[in-house]
Amino acid sequence: MKTFPTSAVWCFGILFISVSLITTGSSEVQVVGSADRVDALAGDDVILPCSLKPNVSAKDMLVQWTGLNLKIRNVHLYRQGRDSNEEQFPSYRGRTSMFHEELKNGNVSLKLNRVTLSDAGSYRCFIPTLTSQMKDTTVQLFVGAVSQPVISIVGTKDWGVVLKCESGGWFPEPEMEWLDSSGTILPADGPPERHRDSEDRYTVRRHVTVDKTDTNRFTCRVQQTEINHLKETEIHVPDDVFPKSQVGLIVGLSILLAVVVLTASAGVYKWRKHTDGLQGELKNVKIERGELNNCMYFIDLSENTFIKNIYCMNLMIQSLFR
Ligand SMILES: *[C@@H]1O[C@H](CO)[C@@H](O)[C@H](O)[C@H]1NC(C)=O
Ligand SMILES: *[C@@H]1O[C@H](CO)[C@@H](O)[C@H](O)[C@H]1NC(C)=O
Repeated sequence: MKTFPTSAVWCFGILFISVSLITTGSSEVQVVGSADRVDALAGDDVILPCSLKPNVSAKDMLVQWTGLNLKIRNVHLYRQGRDSNEEQFPSYRGRTSMFHEELKNGNVSLKLNRVTLSDAGSYRCFIPTLTSQMKDTTVQLFVGAVSQPVISIVGTKDWGVVLKCESGGWFPEPEMEWLDSSGTILPADGPPERHRDSEDRYTVRRHVTVDKTDTNRFTCRVQQTEINHLKETEIHVPDDVFPKSQVGLIVGLSILLAVVVLTASAGVYKWRKHTDGLQGELKNVKIERGELNNCMYFIDLSENTFIKNIYCMNLMIQSLFR
């Protein structure tokens, strides 16, 4: 009498395991999605994958696609053999579809046209009529945004030219670098300036001061490694935009200064020599000395107030050497 319950337990146990294996096995239809995130750029059309495993027809099933951002939104509903989007969230209107010819193969993927940044998030594909545990799956949608950078010439600083690079409408926030024609990163005039607009898009701006090179070609590179996108714009700065060479100007200024100094010293020397001699010569004579119109004049009063000599010299230069 003791063995019966034991064998009964074994019998039920084996039966239970068999039934479980059958029901959780291939005969149970499951919803499968994708473990990989779906990446897109704003404006792209995307497919959010969802299908039945095994491969049975979903033609007569109810398929519900919902968005799980903050509030649950109705994205797309397929029921009784047709799309039924009366309760669809307004921002998805006219942008969703399912592949009707694929339903018979269990493909219940959703096509979403012209994605926007606000479409990013989790989507749930749900078939409530299935008997399995796996009635739904979630798919992640990531939306990025990129744009071409724009370069402008701002002006000159010292002996270089100041360039500005600007690129708006990015998501996520990108990196911005300036490069020379050989691809070497140039030291920019400070870190990039960043702004974020109401739609979460980033504008990045960065200045660089460049000196003349063999090519005068410079590149602004904007990249977002998370979405693996890169945009570049190149500029050629014409030679005549650069200020005249520093060396030439310094040499020129030096020569000019040297000429002025030499001329002035020679003049002063000559002037001093001349007036000293004159004063010695006219020892017994009254001399009046005055300044008029930048000229120094001497009047020999002994000879009927007749002007003996007028020595002219720029009094300004003269005062420099006094
Ligand atoms: C699904 O089944 C159909 C036939 O009913 C077949 O043509 C198709 O290749 C199958 N698809 C997959 C993904 O197994
Ligand atoms: C479903 O059908 C679409 C359109 O033909 C196709 O691009 C997609 O890869 C299919 N998905 C699956 C999971 O078979």
